[in-house]
Amino acid sequence: MKSSRLTPVFCLETYQKIYARCLSANAATAPRNSQKLKSYSEIPGPSSLPIIGQTRHFLPGGEMYNVSALKFGEKLYKKYGPIVKFDGSFGRPDFILLFDPESCAQVLRSENWLPIRPGFDSLKYYRRSKVEDPKKPTGLITDQGDVWKQFRSTVNPVMLQPKIVQQYRDMLDEVARDMILRMKSIRDDKNMLKGKFDVEMNLWALESIGLVALGRRLNCFDPNLPEDSPVKKLIQVVHDTFVTANELDFKPSLWKYYKTRTFKKAMKLYESHANIARHFIDITINELEKNSGNARKSDDEKSVLEKLLDINKEVALIMASDMLFAGVDTTSNTITGSLYLLAKNQEKQDKLREEIASGQEKRPYLKACIKESLRMIPVTPGNLRMTTVDYNILGYAIPKDTQLGIMHQTMSMFENEYPRADEYIPERWMVSKEDPLYHGNAHPFAYSPFGFGVRSCIGRRIAELEMETFLARIIQSFRVEWFGPPIQVIPASLNYITGPYNFVFKDV
Ligand code: HEM
Repeated sequence: MKSSRLTPVFCLETYQKIYARCLSANAATAPRNSQKLKSYSEIPGPSSLPIIGQTRHFLPGGEMYNVSALKFGEKLYKKYGPIVKFDGSFGRPDFILLFDPESCAQVLRSENWLPIRPGFDSLKYYRRSKVEDPKKPTGLITDQGDVWKQFRSTVNPVMLQPKIVQQYRDMLDEVARDMILRMKSIRDDKNMLKGKFDVEMNLWALESIGLVALGRRLNCFDPNLPEDSPVKKLIQVVHDTFVTANELDFKPSLWKYYKTRTFKKAMKLYESHANIARHFIDITINELEKNSGNARKSDDEKSVLEKLLDINKEVALIMASDMLFAGVDTTSNTITGSLYLLAKNQEKQDKLREEIASGQEKRPYLKACIKESLRMIPVTPGNLRMTTVDYNILGYAIPKDTQLGIMHQTMSMFENEYPRADEYIPERWMVSKEDPLYHGNAHPFAYSPFGFGVRSCIGRRIAELEMETFLARIIQSFRVEWFGPPIQVIPASLNYITGPYNFVFKDV
């Protein structure tokens, strides 16, 4: 995967404990009715100039130039406090960043009927240009309002029910075991994986989500896979889509007034993704039709596509395609982050290996290791919501139709929420109430790597099962080590962990 255009800007090990001030900030929420609200324009934030807004802060020499998503939040919080305003510019509306868990709770809870998640406007534009009837769906990532609600209620029972998701356990374990064989076969004499580590993790992620979505192996592990194979193309397109959408929809861009080069590139990428995903879906549907005379499959044996085809064909096609978009880089980066943290904390890795070797059915430490990785290196830096009513947040008047960023990545590193926040301590998710590390002492809205409420991640249960299955097989098979400087994480809609990937996989 080409990622050289992206400059590394976040170094995990330099993350400092800087959050003492949030102790006082967290206490601030709604003033009594009699208290006068401060105006919207008084919300602190980087200084703004007419027309160009705050753009200069992001240019060379500016305070935000080349600052990563994680440092970005930390830097802003340190300088301006728990609420920070960015003025709109070049077609981007204003947005407010929130670093106060209680205020985030206030907004997320009250926006939980028909939550509007802004972002991915250019993808929305592309998809709507293909589907003219506004009542027709384009997918969960891009739809809002009743169209979103209708779609979501159709897919929820198939994708979120733990019992149904567990049906994929053995299939996913088969993928994990095949990936271990592949990893063994591509190690060099230093026990490092030959080739690109991120592509390897993406191949695992695509093979896994492909199997759940379509019920068939995509053969991502074929040793002779050509670079221009649909599988490799899909992986590159997904990555480029997240990077390009970040340029158009999360940074100031003129595309809403003028079709910029990046916009034209994005339209081609979105088209490519739709075509490649459709290629896989069509092959699957043809095979299903060919085998339709055979004995009927039980529900346990059906993929998400097959289950949804029984309910609504339009929804089935869109959801399968979106799974091949949202279900690749998310799980692959989380696995990479987990491996890094376990490699840097060998005693935690040993403890996890012991739990796996015990053969016990429930594996709480495995779950805790992934939770703790998502606290420290979440794949999404924040959650977004558009306000549908006026709010009083921390004494400021926030009008309807304002974009809010719930900065969970920064809040989950607050020392007062998670003591010894910069240490990898999976035990915090398991210890009892009496222990000072007990996770339940943290504000429940300080940690939300999968979002919140009715709009939270639809792939959560599938992602957790995939990651638990694969991580268990890796730790059972290898002692994972890391050498050299810490990992680098760069922001591009998602947090991307970039090379060099100094992992060593020694046989256990
Ligand atoms: C580590 C893995 C993953 C993480 C951390 C993650 C995180 C998230 C987050 C934070 C959101 C926004 C939630 C909100 O607005 O409240 C989201 C939405 C979504 N995710 Fe995931 N995700 C992961 C894996 C997946 C997978 C495997 C799939 C595919 C099945 C997927 C599909 C989606 C979709 C379609 C949405 C939009 C849901 C909606 O708006 O109704 N995600 N995810």
